Amino acid sequence: MQFKLWMLHLNLMSAKRYIKEYLAHHLYCVWRIFKIKCYFTLNQISITYWGVKVGKKCSFLGSTIFRRYPETAIIIGNNCAFQSSDWSNIVGICRRCMISTLKKGAVLKIGDKCGFSGAAISCAESITIGDNVLLGINVIVTDTDHHSLNAKQRFENIGITSKPIVIGNDVWIGTNSIILKGVNIGDNSVIAAGSVVVGDIPDNVVAGGVPAKVIRKL
Ligand SMILES: CC(C)(COP(=O)(O)OP(=O)(O)OC[C@H]1O[C@@H](n2cnc3c(N)ncnc32)[C@H](O)[C@@H]1OP(=O)(O)O)[C@@H](O)C(=O)NCCC(=O)NCCS
Repeated sequence: MQFKLWMLHLNLMSAKRYIKEYLAHHLYCVWRIFKIKCYFTLNQISITYWGVKVGKKCSFLGSTIFRRYPETAIIIGNNCAFQSSDWSNIVGICRRCMISTLKKGAVLKIGDKCGFSGAAISCAESITIGDNVLLGINVIVTDTDHHSLNAKQRFENIGITSKPIVIGNDVWIGTNSIILKGVNIGDNSVIAAGSVVVGDIPDNVVAGGVPAKVIRKL
């Protein structure tokens, strides 16, 4: 279908103009589709190795890092996209997507049609992400502090606080934002770029800043 459209395009304009304006872009699109096919196999090996449940028609650009702790679950819905190469998103990805569970009993659940670009999601207890959720470049979602506030306990890996995170449907989280433990983000809300979200955000709002506050209603 796409190829037919390109041919139609070509017929409607001079070859010279096509080469100057469109060729590089179309070759890039073909290269990208080819890469998605290649990376699918690579990611499939990792998914099988780590026992991650992935729905149908998910796509991968670059190799996602999965790490599933024993007796935990990572469940990903249909039609999700994971971008993990520095060339896979023009806004500028700093690292591969990292999807991990850290502690026995943890459940990390991602809905359908979600998009991730260099996102790091680490789950010690429970992280639930709804459908149609977009996480901008380099977003961090973590339901645990990873270290204790108590200096004596810090190096013994005890006294660490974790609280579940719920991100609703149709949420868009701006680039470089951090979503911390215990946060609920309501349906259809937008988190502005570079925010640190430490408290609940209601449905249908734009929120942003450090710490994130509601900026306006949508
Ligand atoms: C959230 C966003 C879409 C809002 O855009 P907008 O509706 O045009 O917002 P405005 O620029 O009119 O700003 C509205 C208010 O929000 C504030 N604001 C906007 N972005 C903010 C941010 N990142 N952090 C804190 N406050 C922010 C503005 O200062 C302004 O405050 P004021 O009314 O007191 O002056 C946009 O700011 C943003 O963050 N886009 C994210 C882009 C991104 O990360 N893309 C991902 C690519 S993968």
